[in-house]
Amino acid sequence: MQPGVNEPMNNPQSRLQALKNRRQSRPMWDSTMAAASAPEKQFLTPKREDTMRPPTSVNALRRGLLALAVSAAFVPAAFAEGPIVIKFSHVVASDTPKGKAAEFFARRAGELTKGRVKVEVYLNSQLYKDKEEIEALQLGSVQMLAPSLSKFAHLGVKEFEAFDLPFIFNDYNDLHAVTSGPVGRKLLQKLESRGITGLAYWDNGFKVMSANKPLKSVSDYKGLRMRIQPSKVLDAQMRAVGALPQVLAFSETYQALQTRVVDGTENPPSNLYTQKMHEVQKHLSTTNHGYLGYAVVVNKKFWDGLPGNIRAALTQAMTEATQVANDTAFQDNLEALNRIKASGKSTVHEPTMEERRQLMRAMLPVHQQMATRIGAQTIAEIYQATGFKPLPALPRPAP
Ligand code: LMR
Repeated sequence: MQPGVNEPMNNPQSRLQALKNRRQSRPMWDSTMAAASAPEKQFLTPKREDTMRPPTSVNALRRGLLALAVSAAFVPAAFAEGPIVIKFSHVVASDTPKGKAAEFFARRAGELTKGRVKVEVYLNSQLYKDKEEIEALQLGSVQMLAPSLSKFAHLGVKEFEAFDLPFIFNDYNDLHAVTSGPVGRKLLQKLESRGITGLAYWDNGFKVMSANKPLKSVSDYKGLRMRIQPSKVLDAQMRAVGALPQVLAFSETYQALQTRVVDGTENPPSNLYTQKMHEVQKHLSTTNHGYLGYAVVVNKKFWDGLPGNIRAALTQAMTEATQVANDTAFQDNLEALNRIKASGKSTVHEPTMEERRQLMRAMLPVHQQMATRIGAQTIAEIYQATGFKPLPALPRPAP
């Protein structure tokens, strides 16, 4: 019998397996160092406490949606009958950059279409968990999602994992140089052949590391089981510091930390705080070693089948919602970090410059290791957009 995650189990591997089973049932160079002291990717949080734990699954609703999915979602004639319903599923709390932007979008979509569109937001993995939600989008059982960029490799678009490369973005300016430029557009375009249309990039923030021991030098990570998103780049990043990466759905992370199935994790402070992960992690280091953000995507058939005026109104609502996400992300993360500090539950460590250099030295070779998977050209284009010093072995982009 497989023990459940709530039962005490001494062997972490067994506990990890139990959690996974349960889920199924449902060279360093100086210029780069100089960049380390450049504008901090600081942090920031929610205006009010939104610490709702992800509810248990609403299986009946999910089954119903899946049953209705394909036919209902793609019939433009149905649009004439009543409001056009857009189910927008996501996995985080409402009081996060994504949560706020999704709610804003829902409101503006209703206003700008004068009630012709009703956006229903399902937050906190209420409907679907990470991997399931992308499948649900392709099936048409939900129409809109905003998965983190690390989750698009599931679709075979591995280039998105470039966003996970450690230390590739020094700050939000670097990030926006990519998301609002030709590289960002090219990546969204690649989703079309998977039946998905990319509408926008929404910011979250730079990640911190957490565990039950202080994470200062690289050797502190050795042997720690660290929860990651399903990204080979994140896997390589954790292995580069001697940790043991474990892929888990976001909705399972709190419990896995609480029951010590995993020892630690990484996320921007807004996600850690709103999921209460800081309550089950004694230490947190503001490493800012990588970025986590989103692509807002829709089912292509659904989107293409919308009346032109409706699509135009939704595009406007999305432009405004993107501004909300990107305006709120920095502050939300800063406030979350402050709240974590104030809670006294987790001790926050600010890495020294030497600690940060060590981490960079350990993690930067991942860029080269992952070049074949992501595409050396994509990495080189990002370096060019951000001014990141390219690894000598990587080719420069074609002129
Ligand atoms: C995670 O799985 O850690 C994040 O992708 C959650 C999110 O959507 O911000």
